[in-house]
Amino acid sequence: MAVIAGNWKMHHGPGATQQFFSSLVLPANAGAHEVLVFPTSLSLAAAVAARGRDPRVQLGIQNIHWEDKGAFTGEVSAAMAREAGAAFALVGHSERRHLFGETDDEVSRKIAAAKRHGLVPVVCVGETLDERRQGRVEEVVLRQLDAALPTLTGSDGRFLLAYEPVWAIGTGETATPDDAAAAHGTLRVRLDEALGPSRSSRVPILYGGSVKPDNARDLLAARDVDGVLVGGASLDAGSFAALVEAAA
Ligand code: PGA
Repeated sequence: MAVIAGNWKMHHGPGATQQFFSSLVLPANAGAHEVLVFPTSLSLAAAVAARGRDPRVQLGIQNIHWEDKGAFTGEVSAAMAREAGAAFALVGHSERRHLFGETDDEVSRKIAAAKRHGLVPVVCVGETLDERRQGRVEEVVLRQLDAALPTLTGSDGRFLLAYEPVWAIGTGETATPDDAAAAHGTLRVRLDEALGPSRSSRVPILYGGSVKPDNARDLLAARDVDGVLVGGASLDAGSFAALVEAAA
């Protein structure tokens, strides 16, 4: 089973969301996989309504605040996301970390909030181009994972990881299957150490960064790559269905 997740970022308002779901024809193999869509929070209700009763598509929120409520203009809480129909929450996406200055500590607090309200966190880690050139991939992804692990493992409950090298996001530059396998292997070893192999094996590690229908198959075949987190190529219903099909 693979996880195919679409992160729509700041695309698709309620109308476009409705259109996406009305033209989405998932391939026959979709039921064998976990298919997730992360619309904008404003489009979540439209996605809930438009996906109808197709249980094959599950929905998530792209970002939450760590508090449950309060004077935090512009933010939404995990409880609200859950009430609106989200089952998953992206946490620590590199655009949040780099464009909005989100720290490892804030990522942990958001993970705690997601877990408190029954949202499954999808925690993103990944190095910048400079960090890769300096040979620091392992150090960076392990620092990000280690900061999150106490909160992730502090109580039971599911979580997912996503390895998203910053230089590959939205750039058309994709990590090779070998690059992905190397970083995923590093993360997997740490998960095995922290959780034991049996619980670790239930934590999928997704790859993200310029995944397209024509490279998804090779990436999904790479060692320790359990799914993909896709931005641009998830916006079109036909392309999204082709990504699910690539999971075979
Ligand atoms: P991309 O985005 O597929 O457009 O590179 C991936 C992501 O940021 O989740």
